Amino acid sequence: MPEDMDFLRMEDFDLAGKRVMIREDLNVPVSHGKVTSDARIRAALPTIRMALERGAAVILLSHLGRPVEGQFSEEDSLAPVAEHLSGLLGQAVRLQPDWLDGIEVQAGEVVLCENVRFNKGEKSNDGALAEKMAGLCDLFVMDAFGTAHRAQASTEGVARHAPIAVAGPLLSRELDALAKAMLHPVRPLLAIVGGSKVSTKLTVLSSLLNKVDELIVGGGIANTFIAAAGYPVGKSLYEPELVHEAQALIRRAHDNGGNIPIPVDVVVAKAFSEEAEAYVRNVDEVSEDEMILDIGPLTAVEYSETVAGAGTIIWNGPVGVFEFRNFAAGTRAMAEAIGRSGAFSIAGGGDTLAAIDQFGVSEEISYISTGGGAFLEYVEGKTLPAVQALQDRYQSVQ
Ligand code: 3PG
Ligand code: MG
Repeated sequence: MPEDMDFLRMEDFDLAGKRVMIREDLNVPVSHGKVTSDARIRAALPTIRMALERGAAVILLSHLGRPVEGQFSEEDSLAPVAEHLSGLLGQAVRLQPDWLDGIEVQAGEVVLCENVRFNKGEKSNDGALAEKMAGLCDLFVMDAFGTAHRAQASTEGVARHAPIAVAGPLLSRELDALAKAMLHPVRPLLAIVGGSKVSTKLTVLSSLLNKVDELIVGGGIANTFIAAAGYPVGKSLYEPELVHEAQALIRRAHDNGGNIPIPVDVVVAKAFSEEAEAYVRNVDEVSEDEMILDIGPLTAVEYSETVAGAGTIIWNGPVGVFEFRNFAAGTRAMAEAIGRSGAFSIAGGGDTLAAIDQFGVSEEISYISTGGGAFLEYVEGKTLPAVQALQDRYQSVQ
């Protein structure tokens, strides 16, 4: 578990007339050339505005998608992001296609460099590439919490080479909120982890068990736990090869005096579709041709009570197929229970944020993280490499 962290902060620097390079995570969904969800862009706005107000010449870096390096692709261009950001900021945001050899930017202007992942060596954190980026600025601001778990040239590498490397306000806020939930939680600490596969979240579940008082699993993950408890899951998405792991996790939870509850009822369908008819079943009554797509109403009440009793809540992943109307009730119940609770609540991950939006509880969640993978890695207790780089820079000047 990372302890409280020390690094330099953008807020403490005089930025007037400086070339300030800010790494944001503007990796947002884009469809037909338009940004379809701008939560990450809006989260970056206060940082960008602060730099502008302080008289900086602002150079923004971000990735989008996972393009092949060394090659431009229209699909992964940041052009739609530049346009959207410009609308939110109320000033021009110039997209610069080739930028490694120099950027013309005046105080008060914003330049968005084209997708950092078009550069060869970004993902492998090539030292020469990182140095080149570092040479373009007076001060580097790491503000991309959502990408802080990637040791790449525009996150970790440039932070090691820039004249000065500091944390941006968004990154600081994210780390403060996570520390509050994970390092100094008001108990009981409840984690709700949903999603389709145990395999992708096994290490998170395992390390969470050492910290939380209660762990609620949902979605395909819960199906594997239902099977582990000895109930039939029919055609449900689940991972038979992980049933033993799930059983071991349940035993460990009990040994620690905690619990991983199994749903008492579920909502099933015969097909995975928006139109499929929904049936409520006791957990031991799922037939061979049915698949579990949500928790049932009794379980929703039971889990909502657990939520109501929690002092701190960490939420990642829906408990059902909330995108389909007939299978949204479980996730809605959880979202509303978290919204009603007086606990310190923190949510992260793309699906979770979509659910929070859909059920209109964003104002009621204490902190909504912009991180997906980064959020989970922090919760797992891993050190985020880009944050580590800032800490090392801080140590070396003390
Ligand atoms: C994310 O969306 O989780 C971050 O932007 C990181 O993207 P990546 O998983 O492609 O590195
Ligand atoms: Mg991702």
